[in-house]
Amino acid sequence: MLKGDRVGLRARHEEDIPILRAELYDDVVNGSRAEGGPWRPITPGSKDPRLVVDDKEQGHVPFSVVELDGGTLVGTATLWGIDTHNRNAHIGLGLLPSARGKGYGTDVVAVLCHYGFVVRGLHRLQIETLSDNAAMLRAAERNGFVREGVLRSSAWVLGEFLDEVLLGLLAQDWKPDAKHS
Ligand SMILES: CC(C)(COP(=O)(O)OP(=O)(O)OC[C@H]1O[C@@H](n2cnc3c(N)ncnc32)[C@H](O)[C@@H]1OP(=O)(O)O)[C@@H](O)C(=O)NCCC(=O)NCCS
Repeated sequence: MLKGDRVGLRARHEEDIPILRAELYDDVVNGSRAEGGPWRPITPGSKDPRLVVDDKEQGHVPFSVVELDGGTLVGTATLWGIDTHNRNAHIGLGLLPSARGKGYGTDVVAVLCHYGFVVRGLHRLQIETLSDNAAMLRAAERNGFVREGVLRSSAWVLGEFLDEVLLGLLAQDWKPDAKHS
């Protein structure tokens, strides 16, 4: 398990799936905002790639996020789009509603940076998020990500086009233990 200050990133367990399905993926608003595609219902027991991990998929590393104190499942975190030639990848995360706003998201981003830069030897990490997602923007910037651009009207979300912000962090600019103010 990868450890941050208060959260751990471990493999996806079978028993995580119904909780993630009910609390994250069945939520139409969260799904529409976070998935980059249309929300649709998931048939129970299906091999939905957002939930069921294919360990042979090399470019996509999904984690379940747990509290270090007690091991309670609090969300998902992913290093995806891993490009081993250009040595870059994207990160993404989603916390269960009850786990938001407690600093876990900032901690998860820090752990994903450790995984990307130290464990995988990547040079650049990238995040795309809706421009009104203040918590995600802040969690990224606290870890040193900088805003590199706005993708105007790039996301169709529940009846309107929204802007996305692209943020990047280079390995040489990453300060592992500093949470930027
Ligand atoms: C986005 C998300 C991962 C952030 O994680 P979090 O644990 O809620 O965020 P944190 O508690 O670490 O807060 C990060 C910062 O944002 C601020 N913040 C938290 N919630 C906020 C909100 N609703 N509005 C404005 N600011 C907020 C915090 O005060 C903190 O700022 P600070 O460091 O200056 O105190 C989490 O809220 C989430 O899973 N949301 C739903 C799914 C999602 O949007 N995923 C990202 C898709 S790209």
